[in-house]
Amino acid sequence: MTKIAVFASGNGTNLQAIIDAVRRGELAASIELVVCDRPGAYCLTRAREAGIPYFMFYPRKYPSKAAYEELILQQLTEAGVEYIVLAGYMRIIGLTLLNAYPQRIINIHPSLLPSFPGRDAIGQALDAGVPLTGVTIHYVDEGIDTGPTIAQRPVFIDPGESRESLEQKIHAVEHELYPQVLQEIFTQRRVFNA
Ligand code: GRF
Repeated sequence: MTKIAVFASGNGTNLQAIIDAVRRGELAASIELVVCDRPGAYCLTRAREAGIPYFMFYPRKYPSKAAYEELILQQLTEAGVEYIVLAGYMRIIGLTLLNAYPQRIINIHPSLLPSFPGRDAIGQALDAGVPLTGVTIHYVDEGIDTGPTIAQRPVFIDPGESRESLEQKIHAVEHELYPQVLQEIFTQRRVFNA
C-alpha cells in the first residue's frame, strides 16, 4: 500500500474518486491525510465522512509559504506519506515540499498542457474556441502546471457546448483517469522519464 496525502481546496470530486477507487480495491493506496487551505471546503466533509484525518490551515496566518509548508511536512512525515496527490489544490507548491518529495508530487489539470495552464483552464479553452481540450496528469515542479507530463486524455468540445456540459465531461474523464494513473505509478507498471 502506498501511503498518500491528497491536497484539495474545493469540492473534492477527485478526492472522492480516489477514495472510491481505494474502497473498490482498484488503487493500492492508503489516504493518510487530506490537506486543505480553505475552511468550509466540501473536500473536508468528504474526508470526515470517509474517516480520513485532515489538516486545515489558514495560509494568511503564517508569515510565509515555507512556514505553513514546514507544518504540513511535519504531518506528512509523521504519517509516513510517500506521495502527495494534488486534487484541486489552488496553491503553488513551494521548495519545502518540492525538496522533501522529489518527483513524488502529482497534479491533475483540466486541459491538455501546455495549453491553458493556470486558473480556469476550462473557461480558457471555451474562450479560445478550440474543438479539443482534455486532462493532464503531471509531476509538479516550481512552475504553474509546468512539470513533466505523465498522462493525457483528450475531450472534444462540441459546437455551442455550454460550460456546464464541458465541465461534466472533463470531470468524468478526471475521475476515471486519476485513480488509474496513480495505480500505474504506485505499482510501477509505467516508468516515466521525469
Ligand atoms: C479539477 O478540474 C482539477 O483538474 C483541477 O481542479 C479541479 C478540482 O475539482 N486541478 P474537484 O475539487 O476535484 O471537484
